[in-house]
Amino acid sequence: MGKTVDIDWGKLGFSYIKTDYRYISYWKDGKWDEGRLTEDNILHISEGSTALHYGQQCFEGLKAYRTKEGKIQLFRPDRNGIRMQESCRRIMMPEFPVDRFVDACIQVVKANEAYVPPYGTGATLYLRPFMIGVGDNIGVRPASEYIFSIFCTPVGPYFKGGMKPVNFMVSDYDRAAPFGTGAAKVGGNYAGSLLPHEIAVKKGFADCIYLDPATHTKIEEVGAANFFGITKDNKFVTPESPSILPSITKYSLLEVAKDYLGMEVEERDVYIDKLDEFVEAGACGTAAVITPIGGIEYKGKLHVFYSETEVGPITKKLYDTLTGIQFGDVEAPEGWIVEVK
Ligand code: PLP
Ligand code: COI
Repeated sequence: MGKTVDIDWGKLGFSYIKTDYRYISYWKDGKWDEGRLTEDNILHISEGSTALHYGQQCFEGLKAYRTKEGKIQLFRPDRNGIRMQESCRRIMMPEFPVDRFVDACIQVVKANEAYVPPYGTGATLYLRPFMIGVGDNIGVRPASEYIFSIFCTPVGPYFKGGMKPVNFMVSDYDRAAPFGTGAAKVGGNYAGSLLPHEIAVKKGFADCIYLDPATHTKIEEVGAANFFGITKDNKFVTPESPSILPSITKYSLLEVAKDYLGMEVEERDVYIDKLDEFVEAGACGTAAVITPIGGIEYKGKLHVFYSETEVGPITKKLYDTLTGIQFGDVEAPEGWIVEVK
């Protein structure tokens, strides 16, 4: 028997629990070192690090799932590795190779196996890869050294209640600029979302919906998830925009809706004054999984989709199929699942 940990898996929210090991690799003199696991969760970096002053950092989020048979699997980790490289290019950081990214995820999960929640609890092991610019520096320029690391922490639902509908409000703030960093998973986007999020929560909403920064007429996304809607004629629709984060969950749902549920799918403009084209709506992401949207408040009026208390039937089917694939109960498309052995 391996190590066991005393955690009430069913009661987990989305918060940090220190696990035993994390992966760390240093970039210096133009290359990454071989990387290693460490028990130390404290980073010791130069006060001049670009990550601290100029936001030169990016991150990822993915999960390890325990199957009914007790196996552990990752969901599309290569997509996170690729997206991290895209983020790195946008803010001039060295790319970490995708095969090494996936291998490091596997190492971290294996080393913390005791923290992978049991099947059926709804909880998962969340992996947080990140990269920071470090080293002595003062000018606005790319760092001379970098740290890539992955830690993990067991998590439950990101939005309270999990598969219960929540309401969002349209924010007056923008999350990203039209040609800014919205499509990159960089910390600055999230720092800017803290105040709008706080305002939304104080008004009783789960989070805000951001509109497109150029015209403020189209839905972009939620603070930490993409948006989707189901039309009256059963189409899965999700916004297309260069300033939203290309959600791996969203792209997976586009395939699930089409290939598993036989729906038509569309990535296109979603106008905030045309919400009545949707009979159901949801937020999707690694942390959010699928969170049904009860209603969206815009200009002082709450537009309710399916219901503020009940999950719509299509949203439920999408959720069951996606999580079925992630937890190993439904056969996955080729290449989506990486077993941790
Ligand atoms: N949008 C934002 C702003 C996010 O932070 C996330 C989370 O990663 C998502 C969307 C969902 O992306 P994914 O499905 O790849 O987790
Ligand atoms: C994720 O879904 O992985 C996220 O990154 C969302 C949030 C915790 C930033």
